[in-house]
Amino acid sequence: MYESRKKGFRKIKIYDIIPTKKKENYMERLQKVIAASGFSSRRKAEEYIKQGKVKVNGIIVTELGTKVNTNDEIEIDNKILEKESKEYYLLNKPRGVITSTNDEKGRKTVVDYIDTNSRIYPVGRLDYDTTGALLLTNDGEFANIIMHPKNNIDKLYLAKVEGVITGDAIHKLEKGIEVDNEVFHTSRVKTKKINKENNTSLVEITIHEGHNHQVKRMFEAVGYPVEKLTRKRIGIFTIDNLKSGEYRKLTPKEVQIVYSLKEKQKKN
Ligand code: URA
Repeated sequence: MYESRKKGFRKIKIYDIIPTKKKENYMERLQKVIAASGFSSRRKAEEYIKQGKVKVNGIIVTELGTKVNTNDEIEIDNKILEKESKEYYLLNKPRGVITSTNDEKGRKTVVDYIDTNSRIYPVGRLDYDTTGALLLTNDGEFANIIMHPKNNIDKLYLAKVEGVITGDAIHKLEKGIEVDNEVFHTSRVKTKKINKENNTSLVEITIHEGHNHQVKRMFEAVGYPVEKLTRKRIGIFTIDNLKSGEYRKLTPKEVQIVYSLKEKQKKN
């Protein structure tokens, strides 16, 4: 029996380094996947492969460059690498935190807030200075459902913008706006408050897409730069009961609701 099995190794973690869009069919080198699971070092994994001890979907693989994805079943000495149990969290992301699993400069990341040994990653991203609702998981399928614009999952933001926003600007945002040769769409836009003294406006904007810096770029395009941005809600998940930096686990029922959105998409 392998030492690491006794310690209770984890299975296959190739997701945390891949942008969500590419995750579904992502292929990774076999030895890297074994090492990422915590089973052994990469060098040791290479030895196992060369020795003919590793099977992928029941077939012995001795070639080091072989690529696998998360659906592939990997066996070492006839023992299957166990699947890591799925975890789901909702974090109220504070300002000044990177939406990533690690940071080259050693800055705090959103993953640092969650007390878990599983290799979770954020679903989509919020900018360094954006606060609010962020989901984290190690379930790629769940992440894809949330991210895919076809599923029409609301991402509701509250933006504090510079200037007193006009009905015309709101109308333009609602119609969809061309930004850098691409049309960005909104679902709803609503003025919440205007502060003439400070020359600022609070605007609620709901989108289904996830373009880079989408909300900031849309407001910039109509002449109202964003000063502060908070995501209040993703689908059914609001940050109402979470203070900045606090998080909670999703309930099985909530996870089921997200999965049911995918089922609806299939039937249509
Ligand atoms: N849009 C932005 O501009 N920034 C975010 O963090 C999220 C959406």
